[in-house]
Amino acid sequence: MHDEQQRAVAEATANAPERPLVVAIDGPAGAGKSTVARGLAAKLGLRFLDTGAMYRAVTLLAIEAGIAPSDAPQLTALCEDLELDFDPAGQVVVDGRCLEPEIRRADVTGHVSEVSAQPGVRAAIVARQQEFGRRWEGLVAEGRDTTTVVFPDASHRFYLDASPAERARRRALELGVPDEVDRIQAEIELRDGKDSGRAHSPLIHGDGVELVQTDGLEAEGVIEALLELVRGGGVQP
Ligand code: DC
Repeated sequence: MHDEQQRAVAEATANAPERPLVVAIDGPAGAGKSTVARGLAAKLGLRFLDTGAMYRAVTLLAIEAGIAPSDAPQLTALCEDLELDFDPAGQVVVDGRCLEPEIRRADVTGHVSEVSAQPGVRAAIVARQQEFGRRWEGLVAEGRDTTTVVFPDASHRFYLDASPAERARRRALELGVPDEVDRIQAEIELRDGKDSGRAHSPLIHGDGVELVQTDGLEAEGVIEALLELVRGGGVQP
């Protein structure tokens, strides 16, 4: 290569905007994704994208509007008109209204799998998530399809897993009902089945996505391990 060409390549490389850092984390309910993704985002100084909160927001608004979780056309119309955003604390906001903690209600949790399985809902919400990916200066996203559908080209992709028993134990402690582990485990297994068995964007461990087993680990340990992997240390927990 001539000197002149070399200079041009060097200049182009120097001036090329750096690709924003996108970390995508998927896994089943109760694997600790939310705590880990939030903590990792804070350590990296990036925004956190809670994709499940978006499906929960659609479900809450559908309940409020009297739309059935099976009514695909109305749900799709609802999503397409939605001014959905996140506040700086990472909480979902629609038309200036913060929807936390209502989106965590039991009736929302009970209907969200069915609502989020509607192809029209997914198309609208995934497009919005990808827009956040372009607009924000990097992010940590967590959900069920962020490594496979939403951000398949993410800088780092992780699949966080834990056994159903471990996930139930954590959730029971979180809810302050340690005696109800068996009931919670049954609920988790039911939700896993719905999320993995659906036709559109099922929960899968995608090709090339790094598996992180979290049984017996505290969230802090998982965050540190992911931080090492993102920074190039290559350490698995
Ligand atoms: O992570 P969560 O429990 O807040 O998610 C709520 C529901 O939304 C869950 O049942 C599956 C669905 N979901 C989805 O289909 N795709 C995502 N990327 C995130 C969540």
